[in-house]
Amino acid sequence: MTDFYLVLGVSAAAAAGLWAWRRWHPVSFWYGVGFPVRAALVYLTWHHVASGCKLTRNRRRFRLTFDAVPVLGPAARASETVVRQKRRVRRVDVERSPRLGILRPTRLGWRMRLRLHDGQVPADYEKAAEGIAHAWRVHSVRVVDVRPGFVTLWATMRDPLTEVIVPPAPVELLRVRPGKLENGADWVMDFRIVPHWLNAGATQSGKSNLANAIIRDLAPQPVALVGFDLKGGVEFTPYAPRLSALASTRKESVDLLSDLVGEVENRMALCRAHGARNVWTLPEDLRPVPVVVLVDEVAELFLMADKSEKDEVSKTATSLLRVAQLGRAFAVYLIVCGQRIGSDLGPGVTALRAQLSGRVCHRVNDPETANMTLGDLDPAALDAARAIPAETPGVCIVAGQDGAWHRARSVYVPEQEAEQAAREYAHLAPDWKTLIGSVPVLRPAA
Ligand SMILES: Nc1ncnc2c1ncn2[C@@H]1O[C@H](COP(=O)(O)OP(=O)(O)OP(=O)(O)O)[C@@H](O)[C@H]1O
Ligand SMILES: [Mg+2]
Repeated sequence: MTDFYLVLGVSAAAAAGLWAWRRWHPVSFWYGVGFPVRAALVYLTWHHVASGCKLTRNRRRFRLTFDAVPVLGPAARASETVVRQKRRVRRVDVERSPRLGILRPTRLGWRMRLRLHDGQVPADYEKAAEGIAHAWRVHSVRVVDVRPGFVTLWATMRDPLTEVIVPPAPVELLRVRPGKLENGADWVMDFRIVPHWLNAGATQSGKSNLANAIIRDLAPQPVALVGFDLKGGVEFTPYAPRLSALASTRKESVDLLSDLVGEVENRMALCRAHGARNVWTLPEDLRPVPVVVLVDEVAELFLMADKSEKDEVSKTATSLLRVAQLGRAFAVYLIVCGQRIGSDLGPGVTALRAQLSGRVCHRVNDPETANMTLGDLDPAALDAARAIPAETPGVCIVAGQDGAWHRARSVYVPEQEAEQAAREYAHLAPDWKTLIGSVPVLRPAA
């Protein structure tokens, strides 16, 4: 009896110890206990999981069969059979699961490499990922890192985007880190690699927050920031000290866009004169300041209250398209935000969208907007965009930099923080008149 109490006491103490370990130091608990248990379960159940998710293949294999042995084989049922041969080697169909590599723990789950069967493609695993996630009782399973003949699956126990913290990184020209990707890496937007970005999403989905994060990161860099904010300037006016120009009415937009087109043409002439293909191959002392243009709610630029505005709208559309087409080589970059950016806005919008190669799709209200934003990406990306819940503003699907798509979330940047950065680095804002080398216009009142 005392032994029984002893065992009971030790078990209770061990359970309480494990509970406390998990409660007070979840990270070491995961690596020390949680992960090894999970790994054992994954290895033990992989064959069933793969079979259930239709990832197995039948192979013909030689097997020793016992069908002539009484008790084990069919001979047991026919005891009168004359048994001549007790064992036979036969070729039989054997179900083989894809070979698992070593499971490697990550902070939120694990990664594992799988060897594809002949005839399988990574898309088979993307299709099966949801089933695998349910079988393993984890938040999600994604295919990351595809090599010829191998895929790596990444399982996460909970959504890594519930809390996003981006540690400060050294300032690099035209690179910003507005948030985190689902795989735990920093979300990097490098304008020299992907020059123009489309940032779409329903109202309150986090578009302006992303713009704030970009402004905050660009503010300390030697670049000129230009804003178009036809919501009466309410979004960008607080950042005016760091903006070189801001247009908040249609008239101002037309003027500012024609300044921008003029500036692109000047840069083009400069490059031609020096035999350079783009501004980055010009001698350093001649290299013009990069310009990053932010457009909030692009639909406002294309909306026509009546026929009299038709000319202005078509002028705006043409200029914006020209800036997008020519800007890349001449260091003029665009970030266009909007709820939906489709051909219904007017002529030229589809061509503009085609130029915006970086895509960010926040929560959307209808599947067409996701289609419009993400184009013909993998259908799983569209499903992921449609599944973004309203409770997590800032979560988005990003496509651009490496050809793949990622779930990501921008870091929360309250307006005050972006305003503070704009004030702190106001002295870095190049004067617009000087920048475009001509007389006009629109330096906003700070
Ligand atoms: N990454 C984020 N993390 C946490 N909260 C966020 C994040 N992004 C946005 N939010 C919250 O969501 C709210 C709406 O975001 P935001 O103003 O950026 O939406 P929007 O898409 O610009 O909407 P609208 O189309 O109405 O301008 C913000 O007030 C902010 O509190
Ligand atoms: Mg907004």
